[in-house]
Amino acid sequence: MNVLHKHKGWRIFSLALFVCIQFATITYFVSCATNKYTKSKNTHSYIFNILYPTDSLNIPENNPTTKEGVTLGRYLFYDGRLSGRTHTDSLLSCASCHRQSRSFECGIDHPKYKEGKTFGLTGIPTPHVTMPLINLAWNHEGYMWNGFVSKENKQKPNIPYPANYQNLESFVWMMIIAPHECNGNIEQSVAIIAQDTMYHRLFREAFGTEEITIDKISKAVAQFVRTLISFDSKFDKFMRGETQLTDSEMRGFFLFTTEKADCFHCHGSPAEPLWTSNQFMNNARDIDFTDNHDRYSVTHDELDKGKYRVPTLRNIEFTAPYMHDGQYKTLDEVLNFYNTSLKRSPYVDPLMINVNHGGMFLSENELTDLKAFLLTLSDTSFLHNPAYSNPMPENPYFIK
Ligand code: HEC
Ligand code: HEC
Repeated sequence: MNVLHKHKGWRIFSLALFVCIQFATITYFVSCATNKYTKSKNTHSYIFNILYPTDSLNIPENNPTTKEGVTLGRYLFYDGRLSGRTHTDSLLSCASCHRQSRSFECGIDHPKYKEGKTFGLTGIPTPHVTMPLINLAWNHEGYMWNGFVSKENKQKPNIPYPANYQNLESFVWMMIIAPHECNGNIEQSVAIIAQDTMYHRLFREAFGTEEITIDKISKAVAQFVRTLISFDSKFDKFMRGETQLTDSEMRGFFLFTTEKADCFHCHGSPAEPLWTSNQFMNNARDIDFTDNHDRYSVTHDELDKGKYRVPTLRNIEFTAPYMHDGQYKTLDEVLNFYNTSLKRSPYVDPLMINVNHGGMFLSENELTDLKAFLLTLSDTSFLHNPAYSNPMPENPYFIK
């Protein structure tokens, strides 16, 4: 009798949840919104048609997204000669560290970067582990773990070029110059790219001229990165009414979006389908803050110590190791941390409400449910989307 009663209650709850979800859906998939940015002559606007209306896209006025620009950007993204070298040992491309099969993160199983710890051609390690390149066009809060690359960035780069480190357009400059990436020189990289006649046509189609400049290279790569969009996880399909969640996934969803597990304050919800707020938060992992690349290093605001950008949980299944320093190798380790190991410090975000008890203290079954829900955020079609893949895998300069 009791069991039956419980079952009925669950049904009523599911129905209520379904109604709420339908409502949220209205704000969710606004399909086929038109690109308001003007297109250049002879190019074709790239239409962003998912997640949020295009009005909320972070695209600089001087770099409208075109199909031709995106195509060029895809070639450059995979081209190891961006390092400014042609020797096999000295090739480095965006794809060397950002692998499609790992949601454009490095991943824990990279053949060269053990446990996801990347380093540059000089052997110098990057200060943090990589971040996934996924739905970044909707982020207005700043890029990188500490938000250094943002529209508010006033720091003048220490280079004689017009890179401003304010948007995705700056990542090519950074890769070429950074000592922990290429440690190279802009002119040399541009010259090497320009030697390949294939690019003459691609630049003409994208920008109306065969002239190859670092500015155009950067713009094209940024255009491509903005098109790396995920919208086809099991949970997305559930929201569109195309599939059902299992009871365990549903219970996990409920834990995630209520105060019991309290993940939704920072990591999104059906109404915030990026699965991150993109805000900077201290999630109660540490009490000593010695990393000189945290949010504090950008803002110099004492309260920002130990803060990092909240990572998206989309495709979290594929992006180990976890946290800015890759401390956790598995999702279970992350969940155990949130369950029993939260540490109090004056810097912990007030939204981390479970910190007062030291964790969520969920049962083993509840942890299983929460993890089952997290796995519904996996979008394997993103990992296999041919539009994002290496356009010339047979070319030795293109990173596999
Ligand atoms: C040597 C490895 C390496 C290479 C090569 C590399 N990256 Fe990264 N990338 C990283 C790391 C590490 C981070 C995280 C940096 C941080 O915040 O400390 C990162 C972060 C980013 C981010 C920020 C993502 C976010 O959510 O804020 C973008 C965008 C990005 N890279 C794009 C690129 C592009 C485009 C290229 C090629 C021009 C490139 N990367 C080349 C390692 C690399
Ligand atoms: C107060 C905001 C906040 C809350 C609440 C919160 N997180 Fe986080 N989460 C973060 C931040 C910030 C990071 C990155 C911290 C770092 O890199 O040191 C993070 C990292 C993660 C990561 C690693 C992601 C990656 O790509 O490395 C996972 C997984 C995660 N959180 C899951 C959860 C789950 C599940 C919950 C609920 C039990 C939760 N978080 C609650 C802010 C929060």
